[in-house]
Amino acid sequence: MVANRLRKNFRKLQPRFEQRGIGAFRLYDRDIPEIRAAIDWYEGHLVVAEYAREQTASLPWLETMARAAAEALEVPWERVHMKKRRAGEKYERLARKNQRIEVREGDLRFLVNLDDFIDTGLFADHRETRARVRAEARDARFLNLFAYTGSFTCAAAKGGARETTTVDASQNYLDWAGENLKANGIDGQLARADVGEFLERAGARRWTLCVLDPPSYSDHGGKVFDVQLDHRALIERTLSSTGCASPKRTRCRSTTATALSTAPSASSDSYVCNDYTGNYSVINRANPGASMLAPQTITPTFFPCSLPRSGPQSAAVAAAPAGSTASFAPRKISLIAARS
Ligand SMILES: C[S@@+](CC[C@H](N)C(=O)[O-])C[C@H]1O[C@@H](n2cnc3c(N)ncnc32)[C@H](O)[C@@H]1O
Repeated sequence: MVANRLRKNFRKLQPRFEQRGIGAFRLYDRDIPEIRAAIDWYEGHLVVAEYAREQTASLPWLETMARAAAEALEVPWERVHMKKRRAGEKYERLARKNQRIEVREGDLRFLVNLDDFIDTGLFADHRETRARVRAEARDARFLNLFAYTGSFTCAAAKGGARETTTVDASQNYLDWAGENLKANGIDGQLARADVGEFLERAGARRWTLCVLDPPSYSDHGGKVFDVQLDHRALIERTLSSTGCASPKRTRCRSTTATALSTAPSASSDSYVCNDYTGNYSVINRANPGASMLAPQTITPTFFPCSLPRSGPQSAAVAAAPAGSTASFAPRKISLIAARS
């Protein structure tokens, strides 16, 4: 069953992505509800990730799935990379192969490591967001917070940013970001710092374009960040400390979150609203008519497999009255803020 679906998806997606020079994309994401896996294509490699559950814990489920995928797409076994994802798990390093391959995204190049970590170094589902940042970046002073391997920085620099600052708490990821910048012929400031402390120390420094893409949870240096509780304070802090505070030009995008509530909680007067058509906005609870951040539209055409399906979830969100407890799928929020 999964083999047929994969062949069909690949036949449909690969030519479209190839036409745009895109070498990494999602082929399958729980398309068949009983087959709980995500399967990604990286320049002829397959990353097969099982969403682990008790029912299959004692079965060689992941390998069976991976072999079926490899056979369906005629990918040699040594190019197949297997992962297990468990809800809420904090992942240690998975291996020490230290092998990286380069993937294309138009004229951008990104180094990915398909074995050693749960994530590969590139979030393919941010492709359209990177394109947006690039489109806004001409002459910008660009700030990338929670930068990971610096893919937004590369996009901004290619879009003509005058200068870039890339901030992450991990030296490992910052080094990786440096290599990504180099692979794209770019220079820029790399800052190892906790984002909160970086913003506190920003002083009079100002930027004109900023991406804020926090994890759902982190406990860096003993400081806990929980997107559910802390997103509003983080957004406001970023807007006030960076200078990127014009509501007219501030955009917010929510991605694959699993925990953010659509309903305002007692501790927060803003919440993220996502109708799964690609419209994302942060709404001000006190004055719902006046969106705190203007909505942006992202056309989902090129990532149909990685977007949540329309259906009960989207209906629940649309129907959720203010103050209700309906929740939806997003895992994290990403904010792109720009000064007009
Ligand atoms: C979800 S990833 C960001 C993805 C990235 N924006 C992209 O599109 O490739 C989260 C990153 O936040 C970093 N991080 C987590 N807590 C942090 C903190 N308190 N301060 C700075 N960076 C942090 C992690 O090291 C990781 O690289």
